[in-house]
Amino acid sequence: MATPHIAAEKGAFAKTVLMPGDPLRSEFIAKTFLENPVLVNDVRGVHGYTGTYKGKTVSVMASGMGQPSIGIYSYELYSFFDVENIIRVGSCGSFHESIHVRDIILAMGACTNGNYASQYRLPGTFCPIADFGLLKKAAEECERIGARYSIGNIFSSDSFYDDAGSGMEWAKMGVLGVEMESAALYCNAARLGKKALCICTVSDSLIHPEENTTAEERQKSFTQMMEIALNIAE
Ligand code: HPA
Repeated sequence: MATPHIAAEKGAFAKTVLMPGDPLRSEFIAKTFLENPVLVNDVRGVHGYTGTYKGKTVSVMASGMGQPSIGIYSYELYSFFDVENIIRVGSCGSFHESIHVRDIILAMGACTNGNYASQYRLPGTFCPIADFGLLKKAAEECERIGARYSIGNIFSSDSFYDDAGSGMEWAKMGVLGVEMESAALYCNAARLGKKALCICTVSDSLIHPEENTTAEERQKSFTQMMEIALNIAE
């Protein structure tokens, strides 16, 4: 079966798909954590794998960067491949005093400057939120392993390089961090009656720039986030 962006058998994906932005990170998760990972999609180099983790069948596929990209992949997985849960595992910037590089943010809600939700023609502003069951399980898992984590709002920006500035204004409203995908993912889950959660590891801080580390140094905290997502996969 082929959709415009995924060429895979109908049953090729598990009920739960972990979704990093980067295709190489998808490959890393599959090869590091999954037993017998099988490559199920490679259209545009967007690696999708299915394998087992602690006896559960789990898939992992990249989203690409930005809301249009995750909008496409999550829509096709939910709608045409019977996927029930998508757990984004990404990186984010933080503009909150209490949040440090390598911390984990569980995105309870996603604010955005993007236009994704305009397609629903709602007579007001839609508030994209995580699935509470997945959020609760992720929080419990963070507690169990002693991860540094926060739960709250995230800002899904449509521009990484933004002429108007860094988006710091969102911090005034208690928003914890900035990334580029969660709001569209949460919109698709809501519209299609599915579940989604975004777990982010803070890769850079606007408040504590001295903490910013290299890609390799951050790998360990990304690994922790991936294990949280895998352990809560249903
Ligand atoms: N902005 C947007 N997306 C990001 C950032 C950021 O600063 N850091 C990691 N993903």
